[in-house]
Amino acid sequence: MSIRPIVSVGDNDRVLRSTARPVRRIDRRIRNLMHDMIETMRDANGVGLAAPQIGLDLQVFVAEVPEDIDDPDSPVRTYALADPEVVWASEAKVEGREACLSIPELFGDVPRHVQIKVRALDRTGRRVELDLHDFEARVFQHEIDHLHGVLFPDRVTGLDKLYFLEENDAGELVRVPYAVPAV
Ligand code: NI
Repeated sequence: MSIRPIVSVGDNDRVLRSTARPVRRIDRRIRNLMHDMIETMRDANGVGLAAPQIGLDLQVFVAEVPEDIDDPDSPVRTYALADPEVVWASEAKVEGREACLSIPELFGDVPRHVQIKVRALDRTGRRVELDLHDFEARVFQHEIDHLHGVLFPDRVTGLDKLYFLEENDAGELVRVPYAVPAV
């Protein structure tokens, strides 16, 4: 078991920007990969990680999401899934902050479906159907996008929705726009 190096945009765009191959069958190799991906995600303090982010052309992702995002002591749910498919999505969308382990430092306010239903294969190869909402649904949409070569900046409604966060002299985090307005 090992922590795998994470690919950043520009390093391996062939994999990061393509639709990944379905796994179809969960064997020991895939289970070991899922295990490594969970370790890698935790090591990087991420809430999700998709196989293309470690350079692999496979439809596999892991996620670890607190049950209550506003409670730091909340228990977490850990997912390791393959071949996910969004089979239903609410019409309602909501904008929320996202970041990505493959795009260091950048943040974005990204619109996502509030509720989704996902079918996938779990670690044991069983077909599961999951009902997800709010932050968990957001993480899943972000990770499933990775399996189709889509990154969160592709989803924002304008460049003004992308920004960096920097600490000012008072120690507060302030937004630094990604795009400087033209003069
Ligand atoms: Ni990401």
